[in-house]
Amino acid sequence: MSTSPAKFDTFINRRSDFPSLKRSHNGFPLAYLDGPAGTQVPQQVMDAIIQYYLTSNSNTHGCFVTTRETDQLLEETREAVATFLGAKSNRTISFGANMTSLNYSLSKAIVRALKAGDEIVITQLDHEANRGPWLTLKENGIVVREVTLKQDGTLDYEDMRSKINRRTRLLALGLASNALGTVNNVALAREFTSKVGAWLLLDAVHYAPHFPIDVQALDADFLLCSAYKFYGPHVGILCARQGLLDQLETDRLRTQEQDAPYKIETGTLNHAAIAGVKAAVEYVASFGNGPDLRSRIVGAMKLMGEYEHSLATFLYEGLRSISGVTIYGQSLDSPHRAPTISFTLESKTAEEVCTRLGDKGICTWDGHFYAIRAIEVLGLLERGGVTRVGISLYNTRDEISRLLNEVRDIAKGN
Ligand SMILES: Cc1ncc(COP(=O)(O)O)c(C=O)c1O
Repeated sequence: MSTSPAKFDTFINRRSDFPSLKRSHNGFPLAYLDGPAGTQVPQQVMDAIIQYYLTSNSNTHGCFVTTRETDQLLEETREAVATFLGAKSNRTISFGANMTSLNYSLSKAIVRALKAGDEIVITQLDHEANRGPWLTLKENGIVVREVTLKQDGTLDYEDMRSKINRRTRLLALGLASNALGTVNNVALAREFTSKVGAWLLLDAVHYAPHFPIDVQALDADFLLCSAYKFYGPHVGILCARQGLLDQLETDRLRTQEQDAPYKIETGTLNHAAIAGVKAAVEYVASFGNGPDLRSRIVGAMKLMGEYEHSLATFLYEGLRSISGVTIYGQSLDSPHRAPTISFTLESKTAEEVCTRLGDKGICTWDGHFYAIRAIEVLGLLERGGVTRVGISLYNTRDEISRLLNEVRDIAKGN
């Protein structure tokens, strides 16, 4: 039996950072394999949130100590997130309630820069959060085209090429699929959009917990992610190319700041949660080495990605050996694939499988995970979707073995 390389010991040793991993259910330790729906949160992040309420709780832009500290915290968090994403400056980072809300706000702003007959391209693979906001623009006479998802879980890039033309103003594309783990070919998509001068918007929600991001190398005009998927609290993040948000007309109260990055942030933000976002970036970085935050983040994400990939490969091979299991999406041969595996079991619905696993303390998700179009195109919606297993930095080989044993038992009808 192969053992994990010693460099991965750090992930096992740091499990104690996550208080929720100590929970059990029905006498079984909880195995959280539902990271794609939201990761568990380390004590360091909780401490930062508590610390904010203990010392600096206040609104922004006042004249006393705690309000100044809050202003500073927000700017420091923008800086940390800019470093996390490889962005040019903290002026490119906006916060919101979640990714979906920010994307809706952005779509409302973008449509003001378009005219009837302009086109937007979305994909069949994307989460509804990166489809719905663009589909609503049909009401404004915008033509929305949809790139085909192939049965192997990858996008049809010939179809993408054919749907991007001189009228295309934006391509809304996921970096990684939260349903199938597919990592999309963003370089090719950028090539297509650059040829016609269209904006490229990337949904990095599922990618951010597993791979380092360099938004400048990706050459994205907009990139969105969500901190609760990378060990932080529920805060949405938008990174817009420097100067671009300033050109858009966002919904804005006259009393609020009118420039980027603030101009898409409506009302009072969740300051305590934002304190947690900064701590989450620092937490991720703590797994890496290097002279500065960026090098620690990149090193950490690479190591995390390798570790998660090794567990995902073990899971994939194990599932493949169980009769009656069908796995959807790409194999684990490529290192550039998210550690998220979806499968069905003959004669059982995903809900039945997940309920049985849940009873044994194994948390997985069933259904379409809001990537409803992808599940529909794969012909799986009618049968209740798939069982999704998502791997995070705190998961272990032992947890995967428990899941495999249980699936084997269910498959045998035990
Ligand atoms: C790929 C992807 N995009 C977007 C979202 C929506 O993010 P939020 O919950 O922050 O709106 C999710 C959430 O599951 C997701 O997995």
